Amino acid sequence: MKDRLIFGSGKVPGIINNEQTTILSKSQCDVTSVDIVRKAIHAHRPKVVINCAAKTNLENCEENKYASYNVNTQGPINILKICAEMKVKFIHISSGCLFDGNHFVSTEETPPDPKVWYTWTKTWADQFITNYGYENFLILRPRQLISAKSHPSNMLTKFASMDVISAIKEQNSITCIEDFSNMITHLIDKDARGIYNCCNDETLSPYDIASKIKKTINPNLVIKETDYESLLKMIPNKRVNTILSNEKLKSTGYEARTASDALDWCLKNYR
Ligand SMILES: NC(=O)c1ccc[n+]([C@@H]2O[C@H](COP(=O)([O-])OP(=O)(O)OC[C@H]3O[C@@H](n4cnc5c(N)ncnc54)[C@H](OP(=O)(O)O)[C@@H]3O)[C@@H](O)[C@H]2O)c1
Repeated sequence: MKDRLIFGSGKVPGIINNEQTTILSKSQCDVTSVDIVRKAIHAHRPKVVINCAAKTNLENCEENKYASYNVNTQGPINILKICAEMKVKFIHISSGCLFDGNHFVSTEETPPDPKVWYTWTKTWADQFITNYGYENFLILRPRQLISAKSHPSNMLTKFASMDVISAIKEQNSITCIEDFSNMITHLIDKDARGIYNCCNDETLSPYDIASKIKKTINPNLVIKETDYESLLKMIPNKRVNTILSNEKLKSTGYEARTASDALDWCLKNYR
């Protein structure tokens, strides 16, 4: 038996897994069915369950509200219920984009301010888990995931594949997924519970990221500086700017590297 069981087989599980991890894809375990989730957790008997199953595309969530609610809200509710029955630690991957605005720093106590259906579904899951009455849970909130491993939804892969990008200079928190993996292991080792923002120190703007991509992996990228209001007119659903506090994470002894150092590392090791 392996210690960790992960639901969902997307970008994050591909990096946060180790030799003690079993990953179940949607075809192996559909989290919208509590019976299937129960069978999976009973079969694997893990010490920790990590939920990475989600509908993450904003436009898809907007167009398929019921289906995305079922995965993003009902899914974690199902997993929580079985983890509580079996007294297994439950880690749910939430999101830093529950907050809207980079003129303030969002802590774990800041009330969510969802702006699109995706963030509503994530907010409801967080609220349910927090109020259910089972204490052995972690809700982790990363923000703007980057990684050295290419993936269609890795921000670096997206930017690197473009010819022209309209980039804003608004500052945002960043989470390097390889660092997120260390954060998860650290919090498990500390038997931490509750909500934790999980991001690197300091901030970066999409313009900063695009500029470094141009210098390293895509010299032909044309970067057009755009202001936030103009960007919002170009896209169907609102993208928020968010700065997260990671002080609670660091108060447990975790040492975070800066977003800039993490970005340099990802680009140097990009594959
Ligand atoms: N992506 C980001 O930048 C970001 C930022 C902050 C937080 N997060 C959160 O981090 C977590 C992991 O994100 P990610 O980037 O790894 O997402 P991802 O690459 O989009 O992967 C999501 C996975 O969930 C699976 N899935 C969908 N419906 C399912 C179901 N009913 N049962 C089981 N699995 C199902 C998907 O399978 P199919 O592909 O077959 O549908 C896919 O393998 C998510 O909770 C996300 O909300 C992501």
